[in-house]
Amino acid sequence: MNFINFYGRRLSHLSEKSQNLLDHVLPKYLIDVNDINNILLKANQTHQEVNLEIGFGSGDFLSASVINNPNKFYLGVEVFLNGVSNLLEKIHNNNVGNLRLYNDNIHYILDALNENMFDNIFILFPDPWPKSKHNKRRIINTNNLMIFHKILKPSGKLRFVSDHYNYVSWGLEHILGSGDFIWDINDTKDFTQAPVGHITTKYERKALVNNSKITYCDFINKK
Ligand SMILES: C[S@@+](CC[C@H](N)C(=O)[O-])C[C@H]1O[C@@H](n2cnc3c(N)ncnc32)[C@H](O)[C@@H]1O
Repeated sequence: MNFINFYGRRLSHLSEKSQNLLDHVLPKYLIDVNDINNILLKANQTHQEVNLEIGFGSGDFLSASVINNPNKFYLGVEVFLNGVSNLLEKIHNNNVGNLRLYNDNIHYILDALNENMFDNIFILFPDPWPKSKHNKRRIINTNNLMIFHKILKPSGKLRFVSDHYNYVSWGLEHILGSGDFIWDINDTKDFTQAPVGHITTKYERKALVNNSKITYCDFINKK
């Protein structure tokens, strides 16, 4: 499996404040990758839900979810360090105990995760990789979907949100084609309107400003 090489793209200029957050606050939240399954197992015993957000960007959804739901545990993964420092700024004064972070490429940890660990996986506005020769880099792909199916609990949910028409079609084709997920849908509003409790993200705001059509999809894990 070829991983995406983020070399040179993981960081742009950081203010002193952001650098301070990465140096002094991030270590408190970083997950020990060698102990990741034990940490998730314990989180499952102590919290009502265990959730994973992949590519949290500047952390709008993750920070609000963590602060609003102290009884739910969140593992946030983001390779872009400016995004990580933005998230830290949002949670910094709240001293949250229900968050762990992995600040690198999700692909380095996906294979190691044990089954039935997560109640929800959130993938909000993933990088669309629009050129067809790059489509295989998309986070929604056959191999990752097998892993999502494994690490989600029975009836756990995969949420995929995008305003990229081609990625939405690709996502539906791959997720439904895998045979491992049921699209949780009764009505068109279930995919045209944000789900209850949803928190608007930075990329979602951009899409709304551009009048792009956003598709919100929840899939139930079949096990
Ligand atoms: C288009 S942005 C969306 C950010 C955020 N979810 C939002 O809606 O505003 C996609 C994010 O996913 C991150 N990302 C992409 N591939 C990743 C990977 N393999 N591992 C971790 N993060 C990744 C990028 O760095 C970027 O911040």
